[in-house]
Amino acid sequence: MKVLVINGSPKGEKSNTMNVTRAFLSGFPESVGIETVELHKLDIKPCLGCYSCWGKTNGRCVINDDMQALREKILSADIIIESFPLYFFGMPSKVKAMTDRCLPFMLPYLGGFSENRNICFHELREKILLNKKLVVISSCGYVDANAVYPALLRQYDLICGEGKYTAILCAQGELFISENAKRQRDGYLSDIKKAGEEFAEKLSLSEETKKRISKPILSPKGFETITSAHWEHQMK
Ligand SMILES: Cc1cc2nc3c(=O)[nH]c(=O)nc-3n(C[C@H](O)[C@H](O)[C@H](O)COP(=O)(O)O)c2cc1C
Repeated sequence: MKVLVINGSPKGEKSNTMNVTRAFLSGFPESVGIETVELHKLDIKPCLGCYSCWGKTNGRCVINDDMQALREKILSADIIIESFPLYFFGMPSKVKAMTDRCLPFMLPYLGGFSENRNICFHELREKILLNKKLVVISSCGYVDANAVYPALLRQYDLICGEGKYTAILCAQGELFISENAKRQRDGYLSDIKKAGEEFAEKLSLSEETKKRISKPILSPKGFETITSAHWEHQMK
């Protein structure tokens, strides 16, 4: 089994989110091949909107940059993990650029209408993608993930089809660089590791596991105390 991790945080290895991603991967057996791509180091230009990939070039993008190599890595992985912070209730711009550049994976839109919410919005050109598992791991700064992730989740629902990907959403992401709350953070990461073990075995997460890992690391009051002390110190 091959896992491709796309780290979409501009902070690279210092990413808060990557703490969650690394814990998830630590639950995978050692035999699994894991490759991590640092998106911030790649040259991925914005989509030109020329639709050449839907016409003359038959699924190939006319832009020559690092997306060509990333495309091959995506097509040869069994599990793709996108790891990134929440930026303004959506994905960071580099991750959006990469997502836009995935248009060649899809066939032209022919004008139809379907109410089926379980399928990808566009018919896939690369049918091999149907056999792959996508895991979206994201952290945010807000106290509660339910309040800030609906737009991103809706976007993935439309891109992949509802229930066709696994989302792990971590609130209170700044706690990963805090000296406080170590016990609660370690407890959270140990639950994420167990989720990784389950995912590596079953390629999905049970409702019970999803519920367990969606609990915030700290109570709202505890989080507010730490966060306000942190920013008061920073602003001095
Ligand atoms: C430009 C920017 C926009 C952000 N937007 C949001 C947001 O909409 N909601 C939120 O809860 N946190 C937001 N955050 C906080 C980050 O999502 C949070 O700090 C995250 O844990 C950073 O993850 P990383 O270290 O992996 O990059 C934002 C941070 C930045 C820098």
